[in-house]
Amino acid sequence: MNRKKKFEELEKWREKAHKGGGEVRIKKQHDAGKLTSRERITLLIDKGSFEEIGAFVRHRSHDFGMDKQRYPGDGVVTGFGKVNGRTICVFSQDFTVFGGSLSETHAEKICKILDMAMKNGVPVIGLNDSGGARIQEGVVSLGGYAEVFWRNSMASGVVPQISAVMGPCAGGAVYSPALTDFTFMVKETSFMFVTGPNVVRTVTHEDVTSEELGGAHAHNTKSGVAHFMAADDAECINRIRTLLSYLPSNCEEQPPVHASAEPDEKAAAGLDTLIPESPNKPYDMKEAILGVVDAGSFMEVHEHYADNLIVGFARIDGRSVGVVANQPLSLAGCLDIDGSVKGARFVRFCDAFNIPLVVFEDVPGFLPGTDQEWGGIIRHGAKLLYAFCEATVPKVTVITRKAYGGAYDVMNSKHIRADYNIAWPSAEIAVMGVKGAVEIIFRKEIAEAKDQEKKKAELEAQYDTHFANPWRAAERGYVDDVVYPSETRNKLIRALQAVQHKVDHVPRKKHDNMPL
Ligand code: HXC
Repeated sequence: MNRKKKFEELEKWREKAHKGGGEVRIKKQHDAGKLTSRERITLLIDKGSFEEIGAFVRHRSHDFGMDKQRYPGDGVVTGFGKVNGRTICVFSQDFTVFGGSLSETHAEKICKILDMAMKNGVPVIGLNDSGGARIQEGVVSLGGYAEVFWRNSMASGVVPQISAVMGPCAGGAVYSPALTDFTFMVKETSFMFVTGPNVVRTVTHEDVTSEELGGAHAHNTKSGVAHFMAADDAECINRIRTLLSYLPSNCEEQPPVHASAEPDEKAAAGLDTLIPESPNKPYDMKEAILGVVDAGSFMEVHEHYADNLIVGFARIDGRSVGVVANQPLSLAGCLDIDGSVKGARFVRFCDAFNIPLVVFEDVPGFLPGTDQEWGGIIRHGAKLLYAFCEATVPKVTVITRKAYGGAYDVMNSKHIRADYNIAWPSAEIAVMGVKGAVEIIFRKEIAEAKDQEKKKAELEAQYDTHFANPWRAAERGYVDDVVYPSETRNKLIRALQAVQHKVDHVPRKKHDNMPL
């Protein structure tokens, strides 16, 4: 064969690989409101920077007439490229080839890309759109999944792993996204479940659609399995690019530094009047966050789940931080089971990837009730406590109002090795609020009083300033400073600069035994 012919052959193979499952199936994909695997990669990667690996890989199966259908690429496009100028590895399942199902070779391609990411210390993005295990290959496919899961587990905490579910993701296949750091889902075109609606109907007699059972809404609001919900594929991929902008490429590196920006003007101007005069009146903690961080930099994570605790990435003076904040607008800012688990996972991610933690605190305590106690608030709350305790990244705390009881300790208190803790003059740092405290300490006096309500009110007024202030904590050094809210940003910039090279360790061990 002469050179010309050989080049023509290369061109033919390339063309074949690019066609995936063919025009008809590509049209079906588009008609379903989805982009193809290659279109998704084009949106994700900086223009012209994608290098594909394994475009000509084909499956080795002969059963069920599979030897007559061997598509180059075998249902997954893999490779590397740049996002915002930094290298990442990516795999993107091609639903037009056997429904993106995972065969032995399909799994090998994903594993190769995960190995490459690990060896070179770069993030991995997995765009999932798959009918699950390649049914024709049986247990070989299950083995392929386990190889992927093992690599996801080994990569955890070494390189950031981001999953997008952009189509079906069923059965054990869900455990790859579940093992990664962040999961995006696309509204109405994606679903995740361990067992689908038919099995559910047979076993529990519940009638649910795929969307109700495992759509983007269900996993963003009810289960917390997904962290982000996008309107369509393009928005989903755009937000993955944004998320990457806060993250270092691996656990040995520092996050990228961006140009500093002043905070949102309106929110910053409103800081000194944000806290209502009445301690029982809620306010929006997001206003406090926006008043402090660089304008336009706050990217909320798990926005629709456990909204009593806000978590998300932001920048302060151009540097990435992980924000954890109580939200008085929901459950009065109490910590509950879902909020504790959400917070713990986020804190651990930030600590693994050298992202300083900035805590905004207004917490009346843990949420009371049988639901919470029987659901295990003790062990779930312990997760958040544990995560803050073990975190060795720079840790700063701003107490805006309530810091009561055990929740005071949990929310990045000085005692669990936070570096810089400040309080606003509106802070109330105590074992409990004045009302509860008076009822317990003066139970006898109140019981003996003629007018018990009047007595209670008098005692509350008398001791109000004793409990509801930052000064007891300040005089002991439990907070490092009491500041005007409007001073917060500058104080944090300086503190984060001062502790940016902090060296701290946890004791040597095989691994911890965090309260799971
Ligand atoms: C092989 C598959 C496949 C699979 C889909 N296809 N799933 N081929 N193995 N798992 C093929 C179809 O034959 C079809 O081929 C093409 O992909 C598109 O599928 P459709 O059914 O036409 O598409 P749609 O109507 O959109 O339905 C998508 C779907 C459905 C909901 C994903 O295909 C489906 O239910 N598939 C089976 C899902 C499943 O049970 N998987 C195993 C789960 S258990 P043609 O040639 O017509 O284009 C599992 C265990 C993992 O995954 C364990 C890991 C530990």
